[in-house]
Amino acid sequence: MADKKYIIGNWKMQLAPAESVKQAEQLKKLLSKSRLPSEMQVAVAPDFLSWIKVAEVLRGSKIQLASQDGWWADKGAYTGEISLAMLKKLGCTYAIIGHSERRQQVNETNELINQKIKAALLYDLVPILCVGETFADRKEGRKEVVIIQQVHAALNKVDILPQQTLIIAYEPVWAIGSGQACDPQEAKHTALVIKQAMLDVLEDQDLPLVEIIYGGSVDKNNIKNYLAIPEIKGALVGGASLVADNFMELIKQA
Ligand code: PGA
Repeated sequence: MADKKYIIGNWKMQLAPAESVKQAEQLKKLLSKSRLPSEMQVAVAPDFLSWIKVAEVLRGSKIQLASQDGWWADKGAYTGEISLAMLKKLGCTYAIIGHSERRQQVNETNELINQKIKAALLYDLVPILCVGETFADRKEGRKEVVIIQQVHAALNKVDILPQQTLIIAYEPVWAIGSGQACDPQEAKHTALVIKQAMLDVLEDQDLPLVEIIYGGSVDKNNIKNYLAIPEIKGALVGGASLVADNFMELIKQA
């Protein structure tokens, strides 16, 4: 069987609940009419307010559910949080963890991200760990160091069972929502850096379980350039996942 490819739509806080439901219904309809190769994995990550409704709409479809975040403890006194364990019970497949917007806007630390990665694997979710440098990191020559440190911290003492998958999304912060996507050759180079960092931190664990995807201004016109690179197994898509027709076109191009 061909290698799996992952296209994950991150809706962030961009849609009102009614819009999310409508978007899910349209996407389900469009996808049911298309012949999606079995190696293509398509998922969407709605905001938590819309999440259960979207999950109901997508039940039985080819579209899987992802969460934009999730708390590590299964339950308890954690005001405002939603646990990865609860999400799993509601049919979630993937959990985006450590998105740069959370690292920057709510000061999510590498230590917390590490706890969340461990919890996601414990509850049998596929974590999508986001790593990436800021424009300042890049200008000051720290890009690779920053990424290696993020990978090492997030995967510190993480055990991945042979049947489990971990996805790492390379998301240069400057490329997110800017319309300025990273050059595919640079994304390839960074994927190799991430792979090496993973090898160092996971030591004797099997690498094939870890898939690298790219995110940052991916659209229907440039998706092919990333998927043409053997080291890149898919994309995390923000803006271009918000309109069903557009997202469907991107999936077709992929
Ligand atoms: P973008 O967002 O596609 O809008 O750049 C990507 C992301 O934040 O994952």
